Amino acid sequence: MTAYALVTGATSGIGLALAETLAARGRSLILVGRRAEALATIGQQLRSANGVEVIERVCDLADAQQVTQLLDALEAEALEIDLLVNNAGFTTSGSFVDNSWQSERDLLQVNVLALVALCHRIGRRMAAAGRGQILNVSSVSGFMPGPWMSNYAASKSYVLIFSESLREELAPRGVSVSVLCPGTTRSPFFDKAGIQIEKAAPDALIMSATDVARITVDALARKPAIIIPRFHNKLLAISPRLGPRWLLRKVVGALYRSVATQ
Ligand SMILES: NC(=O)c1ccc[n+]([C@@H]2O[C@H](COP(=O)([O-])OP(=O)(O)OC[C@H]3O[C@@H](n4cnc5c(N)ncnc54)[C@H](OP(=O)(O)O)[C@@H]3O)[C@@H](O)[C@H]2O)c1
Repeated sequence: MTAYALVTGATSGIGLALAETLAARGRSLILVGRRAEALATIGQQLRSANGVEVIERVCDLADAQQVTQLLDALEAEALEIDLLVNNAGFTTSGSFVDNSWQSERDLLQVNVLALVALCHRIGRRMAAAGRGQILNVSSVSGFMPGPWMSNYAASKSYVLIFSESLREELAPRGVSVSVLCPGTTRSPFFDKAGIQIEKAAPDALIMSATDVARITVDALARKPAIIIPRFHNKLLAISPRLGPRWLLRKVVGALYRSVATQ
């Protein structure tokens, strides 16, 4: 029976690069995204380039009902998932109270609730089988407060703390949980939020999604708790411990405010 790696948000950026890297290493995939046409094209490319099985599942993760339907369907088909990659996510930018509630609510649904729902249902099946691996995508932003991206930073903190905690619960049951915390990575993520990536970080510190994916997939074999690609991002992740939190709030807030277009 084929065991699949399920990747959410596989239609662009880091998720697409993770899917490509896994397929190139012979992994069969279930790709989840909200754009049917993009998923079909990517699925076809990965099948013909790598000879792996690729199943596409269209799901708007901002819609809790669709998430439940996705999980029900996967269970009904009894597809074995031995690697769950919760990658889908997005950010809002600018003043939280002036952004629409719809966009802030969707952010929590996609970045947090959908991820937690997938961990709950698929993690439970992995625990019952006594094997499996979960990779949740947080961010270096998850290590610090993020004024002007407040809800995003908090969502990524949630993912970081949740993943580290779940790791301890599931380890004795044969399931390994890792959390990926990338720094600034070139992808459509910034454009979608109206953020100017060139102001977010110097060019030399911006990673490509393919490099993030390669480092991550290499690391997965070692089952680490936290994956932070590249030294400069590791430094950023420990920076909250190096100075007072009031200063951290001011510095990060000034950066996030300067990159927001609104
Ligand atoms: N880029 C960075 O600098 C960076 C840094 C740290 C962490 N991250 C995290 O890395 C992950 C991937 O981001 P990325 O940079 O690769 O951004 P991206 O290119 O925008 O990819 C995000 C993926 O999530 C999907 N997605 C968003 N909302 C969705 C929804 N409602 N339903 C289903 N799928 C949805 C997107 O689908 P569509 O293609 O349909 O939009 C896309 O496939 C995110 O969790 C992000 O927070 C990114």
